[in-house]
Amino acid sequence: MKPLIVNFTNYKLAPLPSDASSVITIQEGVKNIFQDEDVLKFHPERRLNTDNQVMYHLMETVTGYDNATRYDVFLTDKTRNECIAEIDIITNKGLLKYYPFFNEITKQHPEYKGTWLIEYYLDSRYWNNGMMSILIKKVINHIFENGVKCISAVTNKDNVASERVLIKSGFQRSGMLNKDQTHWVLMQE
Ligand SMILES: CC(C)(COP(=O)(O)OP(=O)(O)OC[C@H]1O[C@@H](n2cnc3c(N)ncnc32)[C@H](O)[C@@H]1OP(=O)(O)O)[C@@H](O)C(=O)NCCC(=O)NCCS
Repeated sequence: MKPLIVNFTNYKLAPLPSDASSVITIQEGVKNIFQDEDVLKFHPERRLNTDNQVMYHLMETVTGYDNATRYDVFLTDKTRNECIAEIDIITNKGLLKYYPFFNEITKQHPEYKGTWLIEYYLDSRYWNNGMMSILIKKVINHIFENGVKCISAVTNKDNVASERVLIKSGFQRSGMLNKDQTHWVLMQE
């Protein structure tokens, strides 16, 4: 997949850059995001406690591009030079690596075969301004332009904000993965 790059007036959505000072900006922002108690409320397992864990996480996104398992992108607030969001774009190959239970889902729903998965995390200072909904629409278009037919997402049952983002982007509930998590899908028309 060609890299997703979107330039807004004050924000830029792009993969991990290659120059050292930009990497440090992303590294600091990702650390803030994944140490933010509000962000982690439904995802405590995503916490990144140490600089080493942040670096390891960023290395995974780099290798993800190399082995076509994930194409994560980061949102930078250009006015503050801060990274304020991460969107994980996990390919079908990555999905089967990170979430093998999806094999069962596609057995029950062959129409979801080949699905990709998105996950998204925004610095809580920026919540409820419609920001993630705008970004997710860009991400969806980009994934579909690359020939993918189905995109999945998973929400915790109490995560109303995440559900709203998906509903506003056209996703539909597919079913419960377990008692706490809902699987959502968007099919290419
Ligand atoms: C989910 C998340 C990315 C949303 O980002 P955002 O930019 O605030 O999203 P948007 O502003 O585009 O949409 C949020 C919607 O939820 C609504 N909302 C938020 N909290 C709500 C609540 N407690 N009850 C009802 N609606 C709520 C907002 O009003 C808005 O809906 P509207 O536009 O119809 O008014 C952000 O909350 C986040 O990072 N959460 C933590 C990480 C997470 O849970 N990620 C999802 C993992 S898949």
